Amino acid sequence: MLTRGAWSSKAGFILAGAGSAVGLGNIWRFPYMTGDNGGAVFVLLFLICCFLIGYPVMIAELTLGRSTEKNPVGMFNKLSRGGRLWKVAGGLCVLSGFTVFSWYSVILGWVAGYLAKTVSGTFTAQLTNAEIDNVFSTFVSNVPVVVFLHALMISVTALVVSGGVEKGIERLSKWLMPILFILLILLAVRSVTLDGAIAGLTFYLYPDFSKVSGSMILQAMGQALFSLSLGMGTMITYGSYLSRKENIPASAAWITGFDILVSILAGFVILPAVAAMNQSYAQGPELIFQVLPSIFSSMPFGYFFGVGFFLLLIIAALTSAVSILEVPVSYFVDERRWSRRRSVSIVALGAFLIGTPAALSYGGVDFLTQIPGLTMGFFSLISTIFGDISLSIGAFFISIFIGWIWGVKNGLGEIESQGNAFGLRKLWSFLIRFVAPITILIVFVYSVWSSFLI
Ligand code: TRP
Repeated sequence: MLTRGAWSSKAGFILAGAGSAVGLGNIWRFPYMTGDNGGAVFVLLFLICCFLIGYPVMIAELTLGRSTEKNPVGMFNKLSRGGRLWKVAGGLCVLSGFTVFSWYSVILGWVAGYLAKTVSGTFTAQLTNAEIDNVFSTFVSNVPVVVFLHALMISVTALVVSGGVEKGIERLSKWLMPILFILLILLAVRSVTLDGAIAGLTFYLYPDFSKVSGSMILQAMGQALFSLSLGMGTMITYGSYLSRKENIPASAAWITGFDILVSILAGFVILPAVAAMNQSYAQGPELIFQVLPSIFSSMPFGYFFGVGFFLLLIIAALTSAVSILEVPVSYFVDERRWSRRRSVSIVALGAFLIGTPAALSYGGVDFLTQIPGLTMGFFSLISTIFGDISLSIGAFFISIFIGWIWGVKNGLGEIESQGNAFGLRKLWSFLIRFVAPITILIVFVYSVWSSFLI
């Protein structure tokens, strides 16, 4: 007999949801996207997208999951009574979970590598920018090391997931989030008090509206979805473990609020330091790996802060990785009746194989670093298709489904079951039926166009 797990308490659920949302998306991706996209204007657009699209879609996912107690495929199947299109939507969720997991664990491997470097004292001396740059490029182009770390992080995540919902996920999230949060505050204080940090603060906080571009709006939207763990059914799966007693809009508000707060804090850690070190904001995925070592080497007890930071970042990212892997795994467990252990092993092995070329695409193997005929490497290709694009389609399907197919009436019925009040019911209905799907459609058309045609 298959038994579904359940969250042991309300706080347990919110912490696990925040554990899923808070991860590399906040601390690694948000600062470099802000740096790439001109600073404060991007932050503003990101915030607007979180409120207008992210929050309503999170409520939608949790509601759909709780009402059916199923994974995304089972949910679409049950509520659409076997509709063809919705089989595709569910399949896309599972596919996104699988592929995002495969590249997410590559970055997790980088973080693990930097933890090892910090522990061994690489960053205690004052290194020049060129030396720090060199540490990064030597590290990411070392094939055996990056492949090993990628495999290691997949295995650790797989072990947590095969332990089941409560035991595995909840325990990790409960006590580590607050520590990470305090550490980020301390690092932000160090960063904003560095000589020359003011320029970075201006870049981060003072919006220059002349910089707004179509592409920026669309990337802000993609980042909001990614950071809040939306568009592939993570929150559907999490909602399926949620008790009817719980108030969905309230839980979703806590998770969204905490996630945004961590992203904003991470910006205060990274961007002022970029200015203080005279570096470029627009370095892309390697940004935090260039900036953090200088912060640690310039602060008292920097060694301990460095080790503590990378350790907590790995754990925060692991709780997110766990929630990504949970999507394909719960599909095989529920729909295919595979054992949990078998599902985890097969998905993890597949993700290792798909993720390896991504791990090798930062100098490890030339034709993966720069795919012939494209302007990007394999990593950027897979993280654009199975990150921004597939999440946008997923979130579009989800908002259309709850807004127009299953219907907001059913949705509100589920949200308000057991007497839970929902003050924003009208606003939510409007956002989920019109604002969310229309905006997402624009994101989708744009990201396909910009990645492949320009
Ligand atoms: N939100 C997580 C982060 O910021 C990553 C993540 C977990 C995710 N589950 C997801 C992203 C589902 C998209 C969809 O690191």
